[in-house]
Amino acid sequence: MHLSVRPATEDDCKLIFDWANEPEVRNASFYTEKIEWPKHVSWFLQKLNDPNSLILIFEVDGLNAGQIRFDRNGEYFEIDYSIDINYRGKGLGKSIVSLGISKINSQFKKTIKILAKVKKGNSISAKVFRNLGFKELNLVNGDYEFKYE
Ligand SMILES: CC(C)(COP(=O)(O)OP(=O)(O)OC[C@H]1O[C@@H](n2cnc3c(N)ncnc32)[C@H](O)[C@@H]1OP(=O)(O)O)[C@@H](O)C(=O)NCCC(=O)NCCS
Repeated sequence: MHLSVRPATEDDCKLIFDWANEPEVRNASFYTEKIEWPKHVSWFLQKLNDPNSLILIFEVDGLNAGQIRFDRNGEYFEIDYSIDINYRGKGLGKSIVSLGISKINSQFKKTIKILAKVKKGNSISAKVFRNLGFKELNLVNGDYEFKYE
């Protein structure tokens, strides 16, 4: 299994749309409504051109397997990530977050502070950040915040 990473391009618009609307991904998001195509297109093009965002696509043996988006939020970059349904539970979550962090660090030529907000009940995602040594903060409403600095 060979894992590689590349920056997202305009050609990935539909791929990211389909991943974002997959039910478990919507359920794990803080905004759970289905995403509409026209809104997605303008949002995606704006993100691609935003110097404060970075979208990475991860491939396993040349096939699209997951994505990470980093968005600047104050002094941190906040992570959004997901693995294609066919590739979950194989340890890829941890690998893509770790590879994604080294990519963003090399892009900005410094150690970037990372923030991950994880919804209550998403113990698999919480485990990914815990296993990578993120500092954990359990919020009163049951959500988690993880920081890496
Ligand atoms: C969260 C997500 C990215 C994790 O990626 P993944 O590749 O499936 O996760 P991994 O295989 O790396 O597993 C992470 C940990 O959870 C455990 N795990 C994975 N699937 C599991 C399952 N179905 N039940 C229980 N534990 C599970 C793994 O054993 C691993 O722990 P370990 O390293 O201590 O053994 C993926 O499940 C996903 O895309 N979910 C929907 C979107 C989402 O939740 N995004 C994150 C928003 S914060």
